[in-house]
Amino acid sequence: MTKSDTPVYRLEDYKPTDYAISHTELDFSLHPTETIVKSKLSLSPRKNTKPGTPLVLVGDELKLLSVAINGHELASKDYSATPEKLEIHTPPSGNFIVQITTQINPKKNRQLMGLYLSNGVYCTQNEPQGFRRITYFYDRPDILSVFKTRIEADEKNEPVLLSNGNLLETGKLENGRHYAIWEDPHPKPCYLFALVGGALDHYDDSFTTMSGRKVKLGIYVEKGKRERAAYAMDSLKRAMRWDEEKFGREYDLDIFNIVAVSDFNMGAMENKGLNIFNDKYVLANPDTATDFDYAGIERVIAHEYFHNWTGDRITCRDWFQLCLKEGLTVYRDQEFSSDQRSRPVHRISDVRVLKIAQFPEDAGPLAHPVRPRQYREINNFYTTTVYEKGAEVVRMVHTMLGDELFRKGMDLYFQRHDGEACTIEDFIACFADVSGRDFSQFMLWYEQAGTPTVTVDSHYKDGVLTLDLTQTVPDTPGQSDKKPMVIPLSFGLLGKNGKDMPYQADNHIENNVIVLSEAKQTVHIRDLKEKPVLSLLRGFSAPINLKMEESDDDLAFRAHFDTDEVNRWESLNKLMGKALVNAIADRSNEKPAMPEKLQTLIEALLDDDTLEPAFRSLCLQLPSEIELARMIGHDVDPDRIYNVRQSFMKSLADHLKQKMLHVFDKMKTEGHYSPKAEPAGKRALKNTILGYLALAEATPLRAFEAYKKADNMTDRMGGLSVLVHLFNETNEAKEALSDFEKRYGNDPLVMDKWFSVQATVHGEKTLDHVKELMKHPLFSLDNPNRTRALIASFAASNQTGFNRVDGEGYKLLADIILTVDKENPQLAARLSTFTRSWKQLEPKRQSKLKEQLERILKAPKLSVDVSDIVSRTLG
Ligand code: TRP
Ligand code: ZN
Repeated sequence: MTKSDTPVYRLEDYKPTDYAISHTELDFSLHPTETIVKSKLSLSPRKNTKPGTPLVLVGDELKLLSVAINGHELASKDYSATPEKLEIHTPPSGNFIVQITTQINPKKNRQLMGLYLSNGVYCTQNEPQGFRRITYFYDRPDILSVFKTRIEADEKNEPVLLSNGNLLETGKLENGRHYAIWEDPHPKPCYLFALVGGALDHYDDSFTTMSGRKVKLGIYVEKGKRERAAYAMDSLKRAMRWDEEKFGREYDLDIFNIVAVSDFNMGAMENKGLNIFNDKYVLANPDTATDFDYAGIERVIAHEYFHNWTGDRITCRDWFQLCLKEGLTVYRDQEFSSDQRSRPVHRISDVRVLKIAQFPEDAGPLAHPVRPRQYREINNFYTTTVYEKGAEVVRMVHTMLGDELFRKGMDLYFQRHDGEACTIEDFIACFADVSGRDFSQFMLWYEQAGTPTVTVDSHYKDGVLTLDLTQTVPDTPGQSDKKPMVIPLSFGLLGKNGKDMPYQADNHIENNVIVLSEAKQTVHIRDLKEKPVLSLLRGFSAPINLKMEESDDDLAFRAHFDTDEVNRWESLNKLMGKALVNAIADRSNEKPAMPEKLQTLIEALLDDDTLEPAFRSLCLQLPSEIELARMIGHDVDPDRIYNVRQSFMKSLADHLKQKMLHVFDKMKTEGHYSPKAEPAGKRALKNTILGYLALAEATPLRAFEAYKKADNMTDRMGGLSVLVHLFNETNEAKEALSDFEKRYGNDPLVMDKWFSVQATVHGEKTLDHVKELMKHPLFSLDNPNRTRALIASFAASNQTGFNRVDGEGYKLLADIILTVDKENPQLAARLSTFTRSWKQLEPKRQSKLKEQLERILKAPKLSVDVSDIVSRTLG
């Protein structure tokens, strides 16, 4: 199929299949290039299916060896088969059994979808449409089937054989072969099927559920890496307990296994009872993983585990409903992490991610609703909009209903839909039913793309605060003239004493939340004893742009006193953003300093021992270059943004040097390393300060010391990144880089940090260095983690390097996209999304980037994945 005639799939075309598949028995004989898969499917016609209706199953690059019905092999006239489709012309009426034998080649499978080999280990990835690369099937999430799986393999090379559910039987065969039989009693869609075969070490433990059942837990890793699974196991057990306590959800099988593999397209996968992970989200010890890595492991382990209920037991009717499981499960993992760590700090980090990744997506050519209505390639919709904005939508439901009703709604959802394939309507109906609220307008959050803007005008007179609120939703590709949304605005009113003031609420205010639902709305807040400072959008209660005319004094007051820490940080961030954007626009000043008032404000926050170190570290961070670019919105010059931002930081560093030295010394974390939030927060503040001190002192010595003295990876990387980013040409930087390579040169996962830190050195020289690094023996475009570490870091996080004015950065990315596309279109498409903000660039860069996008589109044999992204990007 060529890219121009690939079909567009539409939500409104949903239709159930003609037949159901109640049971699926699979038999795998594993072989690197000639794996044989036998399936035995129990089919039954739907009520409305006319007898003799053809059975049409999908495949992808399949070789059919045989097909039989009710035990009788079919003659060639009775069916037609291509690698993409198997049609049985006239199946018998009533229930029947189909048996299909296919042959597949795991070694050649570099798309990493279906059954493939990762570093000698057989593994599967079937979401969203990988199962069709294993056997012909109804490869769609609304076909729920009970799976029984027999795996046969070489006993020496594949001593470990795993699949979903419970182990029924194992045994020896001739010629050094052996087998295992697994059965999963829970009906599931085929995208949750998984199989693993290989020589793996395992880390074992157990968990006793709330009803007293003992579950065997196992984490399987490459040989020699067993001890690195300890933190993942600890996270898993905490996640299991938390889901019982917070959502009443108990685990439902006797075994829960996790396997870490090194070749994986995404983070991890929630296959029933057998999660498969990118090893990046499993392996950690203090010497190899940073605090950030530990937090990522805790989050992803929890995320995949939580899918057992939100995804596996209740799954999606079709892929348009992807946010049903992903938005909800991200919301759940965010809540878990908040409970395990500092809630405000965690919320601020999530808000930052939303603004750095989702807001630009929503503002660019790839904008789409949380529930898209059409797609050409579903793989391109595993986006930050579906995941993170999807989580924000669930969070808004919680904000409007409060803890108790929200939990009631969730309970109803689990009770009503367990074992079903559902839609967003099913989910939201549960909250409508328990609360008696009408959610029909709220559904627009799933339909309308783009980040709404809420504008606020406020006037105070005689004890009454009047808010004139206006909302607009921007046009996005294929959508204009949007309707007003339901927007919950959490708020508080600060008195002169810095405390929250009591007030008398209007009737559409409930629990300190104004629920906006019209294009224009006026709200009165009465009985105030003095003019308050309004703190609106507390906790970032809705994924919107808030435009509020607010004096710098009020912003500074809130940065000091807001009782909501998220808004405290947000107001400081706003002040910094305003000052930076102004300074960037004023070309008369090459090296502007941060306004003094702002410096004093930051000083006070840094000085405040009552604040968590992690929070203070966040307060020292200026808005990112990407955020500033989005705020500016047009004619963006990444060099100018970088220079002004650096110069602000330098002025702050000069001003606060003494204070920073003082705090730096206090942040030492002595003794045994712990990845917990508190010591991690100290390290975060210490390493942020290290960067500032390097600017103030203008020498690499302190960072070099820190690097050499580090007894954990967080501090080691803290030193290394300052050295490499600020003193790249010095011997200290070179020595640290080569020392790192010596220490970790045989550990690709750790070396990813080494690649990344070099790819993100600002300026035009980095491009050639990236090209050099691509020749490094450990680097390979064949491995997604390596490619992300070097290439994605360069394109996504090096604004000056990638956006070189001569367009060479764009050319390199385009070359790589075309190379990777031949093997792994999903990864190539992901790399293509880094061009999405091209229209906001200044004209020279814009035309250079456009040239490359057009070159990609003209390439012969381009995948649908890349063609879809690039053509939408060009618009
Ligand atoms: N469902 C996975 C998650 O938890 C997403 C995922 C993992 C995925 N691997 C994938 C999606 C490969 C597409 C392709 O978020
Ligand atoms: Zn998920």
